[in-house]
Amino acid sequence: MSELRNKTVLITGGAGILGRRIVRSLLDNGGRVAIVDVNAEVLVAFTAELEREGRTDAARGPGRWSAHAVDITDLAALRDLQQHLRTVWGDIDVLINNAAAKSPNFFAPFHEFPLQDWEMVFETNVTAAMQCCQVFGHAMAERGEGSIINTLSIYGIVAPDQRIYEGSIYEGRAINTPAVYSASKAALWGLTKYLAAYWGARNVRVNAVTPGGVESGQNDTFKMRYAARVPMGRMARAEELPGTFVYLASDAASYVTGQNICVDGGLTVW
Ligand SMILES: NC(=O)c1ccc[n+]([C@@H]2O[C@H](COP(=O)([O-])OP(=O)(O)OC[C@H]3O[C@@H](n4cnc5c(N)ncnc54)[C@H](O)[C@@H]3O)[C@@H](O)[C@H]2O)c1
Repeated sequence: MSELRNKTVLITGGAGILGRRIVRSLLDNGGRVAIVDVNAEVLVAFTAELEREGRTDAARGPGRWSAHAVDITDLAALRDLQQHLRTVWGDIDVLINNAAAKSPNFFAPFHEFPLQDWEMVFETNVTAAMQCCQVFGHAMAERGEGSIINTLSIYGIVAPDQRIYEGSIYEGRAINTPAVYSASKAALWGLTKYLAAYWGARNVRVNAVTPGGVESGQNDTFKMRYAARVPMGRMARAEELPGTFVYLASDAASYVTGQNICVDGGLTVW
């Protein structure tokens, strides 16, 4: 429960499916959490849940979280956020680059995938994560301490088996994993390793977590086809992911950098 005491964590995409789980786990382990998400509506709904759970907002009284409707592709907004958080809590100790974008034509076939969708996904998944590192990671390097955790995907490591998408439905439509998703996550892994080396001597650790597919309302056909690809024979449950983020954020991982921990039921071993 005290793993993250006195640590301030900033998580992007903090109001998403995994983000919400990670935020709760960070709070349960004693961290202060700045929750950043571009979707103000889901952010408000999530923070209402936190209020109902009796976890008060730092801005309104004793509490350990604050919520920020910020688009992380906006470098000036990131710098403003940094200034604001400095006045409230001081510098950020842990940055979790967890946001990922789904563009309007995300499920378009490869040969028709619009360039503007490609650029939008890359801008969020890679460029904005890099900007967060420029702003918050650089401040860590100057202080000589910090941890950055990038959320990757199994499809940045291995290619999706196209057969799992036959008859698969999610949120009412047929799904696949576009090439831009794989390419952007692979790029984020490259950035992870680069910065681990770049800031190693400054005691800023840079690691990655690779989640496997999380069960979140996919139809039975998809769940069955996906599960058949996984040594453990099932999709991940969202609550199985946050522990690895807490570990990498904490001092228990003080000599761990440049690593990618796959929390995928073994999918990437074969
Ligand atoms: N859910 C899975 O099965 C799964 C599997 C592997 C990897 N991942 C990765 O885990 C992370 C979280 O996934 P999720 O399932 O919670 O997705 P999600 O779509 O539920 O959450 C992503 C969040 O990022 C936010 N976001 C998007 N663009 C942003 C921007 N420009 N500025 C700020 N916030 C922005 C969205 O509003 C959303 O709330 C992602 O990086 C995703 O690629 C998820």
